[in-house]
Amino acid sequence: MTKKIFNNYCDKIILAPMVRINTLPMRLLALDYGADLVYSEEIIDHKLIKCKRIVNDALGTIDYLDAEDKVAFRTCDIERDKVIVQIGTADPERALKAAKLVEQDVSGIDINMGCPKGFSIKGGMGAALLKKPETVYQILTTLTSNLSIPVTCKIRCLSSLENTLELVKIIQSTGVSAIGVHGRTKDERPQHKNRNDFIREISRYLSIPVIANGGSGDIKCYDDIEVFRRQTEASSVMLARAPESNCSIFRKDGLLSMDEVISDYLKYSIEYDTNINAVKYGVQHMMGSYQATPRGKACLRSISVREICNLWDLSDYYDEYNKDSISPSNSAES
Ligand SMILES: Cc1cc2nc3c(=O)[nH]c(=O)nc-3n(C[C@H](O)[C@H](O)[C@H](O)COP(=O)(O)O)c2cc1C
Repeated sequence: MTKKIFNNYCDKIILAPMVRINTLPMRLLALDYGADLVYSEEIIDHKLIKCKRIVNDALGTIDYLDAEDKVAFRTCDIERDKVIVQIGTADPERALKAAKLVEQDVSGIDINMGCPKGFSIKGGMGAALLKKPETVYQILTTLTSNLSIPVTCKIRCLSSLENTLELVKIIQSTGVSAIGVHGRTKDERPQHKNRNDFIREISRYLSIPVIANGGSGDIKCYDDIEVFRRQTEASSVMLARAPESNCSIFRKDGLLSMDEVISDYLKYSIEYDTNINAVKYGVQHMMGSYQATPRGKACLRSISVREICNLWDLSDYYDEYNKDSISPSNSAES
């Protein structure tokens, strides 16, 4: 099948998947600041296949509404060629059904093979797949042979380099367009050193692009991204925690202040009618330790997006956007 190649995963700086953080406002912000590609949060196949695809003319978005009519995934034309949907799955046919549903609206599909959380492992998803190379092979070949857009996966390292190389060789043989590698094992946490040497060996071993991940702890400014790329000899770099706290890490011209980033984020949240829980969660993560300040506490107490906007002097912006709109009750991307 001829692939519609929108992105080639080489020389890219990428917003890594983050549950509850990577809503449409966050992804658009990352692109504005300089990210080349943006991942959605992980969406479990069971949930995605139950979604209805709705063209939302009022917002200019495509919405995928879940069984409760809540927005499971919202996207728009601006990110059409740059957004990759990450799916959590343990089953080739279900993965394909979920991917087919969103295929026309996104530029790639990624399979999560790194999530160490209990619900993923119990369901045979995420990092559980690292121990099931046959299932990995079946899922990825089913997707690469039946989708018109690129397929990738994101793994963690196994504890031995040899076993990791064996796994990535199998993954490469499925026809995936790239592989994301978080340089920690399933049992390692962020305080453990990222295995940049494993990623480097994988980059040398494979012919497909490798996307290095796990370096946020050492990435304090834009130039550090290239240092991480060079250390790992990877084609591209994918960042999560660094942009989670300050998305302007993607700016070549340097970091913006926390308040500037939050204001930009709130403007997109207003424009795309984002649900209070998602907005508050995003702002809290950007505030970090500043949540203990009076403004942080007021944000936590807020019960509407307008109230949060007011804390950053954006209530007029909110009112202007909402003056003619009848806000849909189900406009939550969570
Ligand atoms: C809040 C949060 C949510 C995450 N959600 C996902 C997810 O949905 N899918 C995934 O593959 N990884 C997820 N991760 C892991 C990151 O994508 C990334 O692999 C990890 O944070 C290491 O990269 P970093 O050093 O740039 O943060 C998440 C991480 C964070 C901090």
